[in-house]
Amino acid sequence: MPPLSRAHQGQWRKRHVPGGTPALPFAKRLWVNSFGIHEKAGPVVNAGRRGSGRSMLRPYGILVRQYASEMTAARTPAVLQRLRNRACDAWRLGKRKLGFAGEAKECAVGEAALDTTRFNQTDRYAALMEIVRGRMTNRAFAAYDVPREHFEMILEAARHAPSGANAQPWHYVVVTDPAVKEAIGECFVDEQQHRARLRMGFPTPNYGGVKTAPGLIVVLADFRFVRAFPVLNDGSELDRLYHQNAERILLQSVAASTMSAHLAAAALGYAVWWITAIGQEDIQRQIKPMLGVPEELSVIDVMCFGPPAKPSYKRWKKPLEQIMSWDRFNPECAATVEQIDEWIKSMRHKVMYRDESKID
Ligand SMILES: Cc1cc2nc3c(=O)[nH]c(=O)nc-3n(C[C@H](O)[C@H](O)[C@H](O)COP(=O)(O)O)c2cc1C
Repeated sequence: MPPLSRAHQGQWRKRHVPGGTPALPFAKRLWVNSFGIHEKAGPVVNAGRRGSGRSMLRPYGILVRQYASEMTAARTPAVLQRLRNRACDAWRLGKRKLGFAGEAKECAVGEAALDTTRFNQTDRYAALMEIVRGRMTNRAFAAYDVPREHFEMILEAARHAPSGANAQPWHYVVVTDPAVKEAIGECFVDEQQHRARLRMGFPTPNYGGVKTAPGLIVVLADFRFVRAFPVLNDGSELDRLYHQNAERILLQSVAASTMSAHLAAAALGYAVWWITAIGQEDIQRQIKPMLGVPEELSVIDVMCFGPPAKPSYKRWKKPLEQIMSWDRFNPECAATVEQIDEWIKSMRHKVMYRDESKID
């Protein structure tokens, strides 16, 4: 660890040691607060004494209190050495140097705001984008025994999702029984045939792959949680409008959680498949008893994943300028209903089932 400069030592003594006590050994100490890890200079032997390090650290929250309690315990050489080592680590990591007690908070705020490297961690962004770009829908999977911990890792990601009012109105049922998978898959195949009979014109895929998906998770939503969002609950017209929005909040919440699960599965290397063709009432009625799902909950979608039977392909995505405006909506991005209908007629089947390179 680089030694403190003479100027720093002198400055510290002037402020904190009445009359100056030149004999104390100095070190840079690790200082953790909500802005990150910092270093603080001071005499190690003084650590943890009331009115010294502890009181200086107190305002900065739990992490600092933890640190302060370690400082209080820093009476044995081993603990002191550990703290010195941590200070060295912080130094090596190139963390910020703080000023001294009085200016510490301002320094921390000021430096955090100026530390552009902290908010420009492009290596982390690149790692995330590799997963985001690499998440691709695949509708047929190779046989594979998904380890139990992979299901847990995937749903651990789902658990951390944001949700309106932090209501977390979701539940996930992992299906491992091949007979139940087969039955769920059959419901989708029925739906596929039903749609064909209805002549919807929607390019419904082959749902046979659900039956053999190595990973199958049924996503449930508890719509009663709309009550947790801003609603009046008085049956008025205004309440109806608020409920409409509350339902959107709930759906966004479950989608955020489900997306986290999909990204986690993609991060593990699996191909994924998000299926909502399960929303219709009759499918709900068939599936819920198979899984013991209470009547009050809704089966909102199904997540399948596993090693792809054939390589996944990247589908066409709108370019950034088409989905992004600065300050005001870019009128060039607006579409009429006629244009949307034309897109459905000429493009939808291509963007759904072709590689992005094969879109005219
Ligand atoms: C909300 C939502 C609903 C979807 N529903 C279905 C579905 O019912 N059946 C299906 O085969 N794929 C479904 N998908 C998958 C989409 O078709 C797929 O995400 C889209 O074609 C883009 O491909 P990509 O996932 O490879 O980017 C759904 C995806 C989302 C996000």
